Amino acid sequence: MGLDIGTTRVCAIIGEYNENEELEILGVGVSPSNGLRKGVVINIEATQKSVLEAVEQAEQMAGREVETVVASIAGPHIEGINSRGVVAVNSKGREITQNDVDRVMEAARAVVLPMDREIIHLLPQEYLVDEQRGVKDPRDMIGVRLEAEVHLITASITAAQNLIKCINRAGLKVSEMMYESLAASRASLTPEEKEIGTLFINIGGGTTDIMLYLNGAPHYTSVLPLGGKEVSSDIAIILKIPFEEAEKIKIRDGFCLASMVEEGGEPVIIPGVGGRPPLSTDRNTICSYIQPRMTEIFEMIKKRVESEAGFTAWQSLGGVVLSGGGAMLPGTVELAQSIFPTAVRMAEPFGVNGLSREVCRPDRSTAYGLVLQGAQQALLQGPVIRDTRSRKGGGLKQWLRNFFE
Ligand SMILES: Nc1ncnc2c1ncn2[C@@H]1O[C@H](COP(=O)(O)OP(=O)(O)OP(=O)(O)O)[C@@H](O)[C@H]1O
Ligand SMILES: [Mg+2]
Repeated sequence: MGLDIGTTRVCAIIGEYNENEELEILGVGVSPSNGLRKGVVINIEATQKSVLEAVEQAEQMAGREVETVVASIAGPHIEGINSRGVVAVNSKGREITQNDVDRVMEAARAVVLPMDREIIHLLPQEYLVDEQRGVKDPRDMIGVRLEAEVHLITASITAAQNLIKCINRAGLKVSEMMYESLAASRASLTPEEKEIGTLFINIGGGTTDIMLYLNGAPHYTSVLPLGGKEVSSDIAIILKIPFEEAEKIKIRDGFCLASMVEEGGEPVIIPGVGGRPPLSTDRNTICSYIQPRMTEIFEMIKKRVESEAGFTAWQSLGGVVLSGGGAMLPGTVELAQSIFPTAVRMAEPFGVNGLSREVCRPDRSTAYGLVLQGAQQALLQGPVIRDTRSRKGGGLKQWLRNFFE
């Protein structure tokens, strides 16, 4: 099971390989999330409840019970850094073995981190054998010196622990934590797109994640503390209405590019609050509240990629791929297209069987990527789902076992 715990909703997806070795989606569960702020847990009990609700929905649909999940981790505490490791090849005949690869990866991991951070992903970019660049798999090559260039993704230890605690309390074990955008890009980018270079942008409710892929591997990771919630709260502040009403107006009538708003559409009714009578406006006006914030998000991303990753070769990039619920506003691709001088498309999870319509949405790509990861683990270690429904009976025992582990 993939469990994506977001700022606005929790999404659980259960998948299983069928007899043709295709991943089939068996169940999907989505619940509102009330215990997180900008991707980070701030209320254990509320998050636990949301997790339980989404998981039970997915289990009911699948008719299976799940014990172990691959969970997402997100938030502005996530950082990416590039590192390099060097070792001497010490095997017989100077033929590089898996052991040499493991040692060079360990060497690349040796970076000084603050006490409260840990490495959650160690992603190889390329290997150098005796200074020869561009080696993707050095095993069996002859060489004296082996170097690895890697991208490390680090996270706050306490943020990860709080997330695990919520999941454990909901009666589940965590087999792996995966950075949200790594999972979403895994489900949405082809190896060719990663090879020619792609900027992957996941606009969530509380955060926007950026991952720059070059030559087949991630080179830059960053998280902006802005997302779809800011868009709704701008509308709420301008119109002096509750956040929930602004959210409804955004989803029903929102556009993020003025030139795409059709003339003469239905009026937009703004509910009266505190005895005020309802007002009527048009979609163009609503768009004028949304477009500046979405423009700000894309411009901040472009600036970060140029200044922090030192990347300006937009013309040579394969393109920009957008995912996350915040990218679902009509006109988002076109607005991004006007800011990034390269092709822009919407993410669409690929290779899905079963409940494909439920999963083929930009805001499901993280959960689907987590399922892909879990399915790969299951292939290596055996399945993690059972045909029984015993959570209710064994819940507390399981919780205590997990909690005191
Ligand atoms: N159809 C839609 N049109 C416009 N916006 C939408 C639509 N559906 C969802 N959203 C917006 O998407 C955002 C939620 O996106 P998503 O589900 O990817 O976030 P999350 O995973 O909960 O948050 P985060 O990843 O930041 O922790 C909300 O701000 C919501 O308003
Ligand atoms: Mg998210």
